[in-house]
Amino acid sequence: MALLRRASIPAILLPRHPSIALRASSWWSNVELGPPDPILGVTEAFKRDEHPKKMNLGVGAYRDDAGRPYVLPSVKKAEAAMMAKNLDKEYLGIAGLAEFARASAQLAFGADSSVFRDGRSTTVQSISGTGALRIGAAFLARFHKASNAVYLPKPSWGNHTPIMRDAGLNLQAYRYYDPSTCGFDCAGALEDIAKMPEKSILLLHACAHNPTGVDPRPEQWKEICQIAKKRQLFVFFDMAYQGFASGDSDRDAWAVRHFVENGHNVALCQSYAKNMGLYGERVGAFSMVCADPDETKRVESQLKILIRPMYSNPPVHGARIASMILTTPELRQQWLVELKGMADRIIGMREELVQNLQKEGSSRNWKHITEQIGMFCFTGLKPDQVGRIIKDFSIYMTSDGRISVAGVSSNNVAYLAHGIHEVTK
Ligand SMILES: Cc1ncc(COP(=O)(O)O)c(C=O)c1O
Repeated sequence: MALLRRASIPAILLPRHPSIALRASSWWSNVELGPPDPILGVTEAFKRDEHPKKMNLGVGAYRDDAGRPYVLPSVKKAEAAMMAKNLDKEYLGIAGLAEFARASAQLAFGADSSVFRDGRSTTVQSISGTGALRIGAAFLARFHKASNAVYLPKPSWGNHTPIMRDAGLNLQAYRYYDPSTCGFDCAGALEDIAKMPEKSILLLHACAHNPTGVDPRPEQWKEICQIAKKRQLFVFFDMAYQGFASGDSDRDAWAVRHFVENGHNVALCQSYAKNMGLYGERVGAFSMVCADPDETKRVESQLKILIRPMYSNPPVHGARIASMILTTPELRQQWLVELKGMADRIIGMREELVQNLQKEGSSRNWKHITEQIGMFCFTGLKPDQVGRIIKDFSIYMTSDGRISVAGVSSNNVAYLAHGIHEVTK
């Protein structure tokens, strides 16, 4: 085309560097350079650092006590069994692997939950927890006509904001974290929830709140449940860490089950990134508890209509792994032991960190480190202290002072305590 056009233009009119002049003008001059992702930015800086004791506590991925990524032996076993079956690679249906979805919902709500007996829940496989949130947000934006306001805890997982905003929901926040105690601001949360306009969407982290590691206690959950009922709020649970918090998958699902038993027809997002270590396999599920079987059928049909143009159908490999683990009794038992092993190692590191801070001579109150739960700990370090611990000790974390306790090991916990003490004394 370009050659033909050039041939018809008199030579005198051709520019000296025709390739430049004939190049299409830019379509994207209006596109601004976006900021790098804050957590991935931490990893980039860590990679460039040559300090022999450097630590990356920014990224939320489990490491074993030698600091290595961990593939669960139950996952390896499931994969080996799958390989032996020589399975095909055909497409899954829009809603994903049915036996995985069923087992996933049972893990969350409890196998004997009334929602199954009453035919009141539908579950679709999703692209990990992020994909589940995306499906849920899109469904609410399309069908929750009573309100498009979604209330997030302050602070919340960084990705909640763009997920909800990109779906067209109207972002609001409620008090959650109290910096003075590094704990749950129960009074603030209850007060804010009680003032939310009726029918608003209330997003709750089911357990192991990210980034603070601060969860309500059961009696506090009960109060939230009651007030949310009174305000007729729609409850949207994000459960990315089931079993990873306490080491007990039933205990970590307590809040979700309590809300359902008390009449909340909730939406629920699940991820198997952390609790099965299936990060890159992108295995998750989205569930909706409905009023009756007819509503369930209608909701399910619309979830499929939403998913089809998004990504058509989900990937099969990881869902097969999770499904095999959840539905094979010996494998499931092994997985639960491994899951508890990961949770216990993190809980142990929290204790060792506090002991080492005391050994350093720190007189501060570090109780919140052991009271918080899950992968993350909000240390209480201020941004300038974070700047110093990165510069002077090459210990990397996000600027809000959050550390991934999963990245701490017996080998480096003393060094971390030393760094924290030096910048906080
Ligand atoms: C609170 C919360 N929700 C959802 C997710 C989803 O993660 P993924 O998409 O990897 O399952 C995460 C992961 O860090 C999280 O912390």
